[in-house]
Amino acid sequence: MLTGKKILLGVSGGIAAFKAASLCSKLVQSGAEVRVIMTESATRFITELTLQALSKGPVYTDTFDEKNPAVIAHIDLADWADLVLVAPATANIIAKMATGLADDMLSTTLLATQAPIMLAPAMNVHMYQHPAVIRNLAELAARGVMMAEPGEGLLACGYVGKGRMEEPESLVRIVQAYFERQERVNAKPLKGRSVVVTAGSTVERIDPVRYITNDSSGKMGFAIAHAARELGAEVHLVIGSTQASPPVGIPFTKVESAQDMYNALLAHWDEADIVVKAAAVADYRPKEQLNRKIKKSGEEMSLELVKTVDILESLGKRKTSQFLIGFAAETHDLEKYAMDKLTRKNCDLLIANDVTAEGAGFGTDTNVISIFDSQGLVEALPLMSKEACARRIMELAGERLTGDLSL
Ligand code: PMT
Repeated sequence: MLTGKKILLGVSGGIAAFKAASLCSKLVQSGAEVRVIMTESATRFITELTLQALSKGPVYTDTFDEKNPAVIAHIDLADWADLVLVAPATANIIAKMATGLADDMLSTTLLATQAPIMLAPAMNVHMYQHPAVIRNLAELAARGVMMAEPGEGLLACGYVGKGRMEEPESLVRIVQAYFERQERVNAKPLKGRSVVVTAGSTVERIDPVRYITNDSSGKMGFAIAHAARELGAEVHLVIGSTQASPPVGIPFTKVESAQDMYNALLAHWDEADIVVKAAAVADYRPKEQLNRKIKKSGEEMSLELVKTVDILESLGKRKTSQFLIGFAAETHDLEKYAMDKLTRKNCDLLIANDVTAEGAGFGTDTNVISIFDSQGLVEALPLMSKEACARRIMELAGERLTGDLSL
């Protein structure tokens, strides 16, 4: 399954380093070409000789020990890799990556590489739950670094909890799944499909200087649009108010209110194969929109609001061949509300995010999403960059559209 894949295995210094031997061996048995970098601390847990014998190549530990004078080793390895897998990834190497520190062979190579990076964190449960580690992992996830989350169980320190490195067999499967995903992306499964995506918030005017809106930055919608284009689709964005910049080269229509957004979507409805409603739309608007500034008067003021058009619900009723993907921004009872919206709005998929969760929802570069269809939960994804969430959503849409559920 991994034939010809070049995997750079980074081993940092934790007790789980002993599992790196089995991991290296299984990667090689799966057909991968493996090169190994160890940190100084890793060599206290497992010898270079072990990994040299298993990888059938030199093991790199010292930035200044240049084995081949024709190249600079950390740049050469950084460029060589199809994937950099750091297993185990200690709190220390995670912190170095998050801050961009490059003071040894592994951290320097990690900074130099353009290859995708996957981490298999391993540490004491309290370290794993430390705010600094949580922040560093969130920062890396936002940069697109993939995580093979640690499992729960008895840790070497005697505690029971989350922090145990994913087992080598399972890590090999995760790595294989990553390369399979890459192959699917390269196959451009959305080629010839037209995708319309909404992003950002709507703005409902009260008077010329005041309005009702929400915190949507547009990042989730932009990530969806980008992922759809990566998978080969023709994409059109309908953009409300945003703080982020839309992906370069994707045509868009700028809108303000929910009604504007609805009109813009209708203009693209007939040719759309997939419509994704990632925008946060105001549910109510002022009954009257005044064209003169409201003057301050009295201690209290009431504003009469009326419902906006429910765009998704209305599109759900019009649906013919379109594949409709809705979002649900929730603060509690995620599944219940998600399933209610999916059914009521006649969506094919519904992406629910708990907007109170750390690193999820409005404004962040990451999200934690659960994907539902009419049968219930399809997938619950861990904290990932909005780009990675978007890629998974659009891959799934492609699979469902072509009916190829084996993908
Ligand atoms: O933009 P970011 O800062 O990256 O944040 C991303 C996000 C949190 C905005 C996004 O992930 C998200 O959850 N978007 C949907 C927000 C929302 O409006 O949720 P809702 O549960 O209120 O609405 C459910 C669905 O109906 C949504 O697809 C919404 O677009 C749609 N809707 C809602 C009201 C309305 N009048 N018309 C609609 O079409």
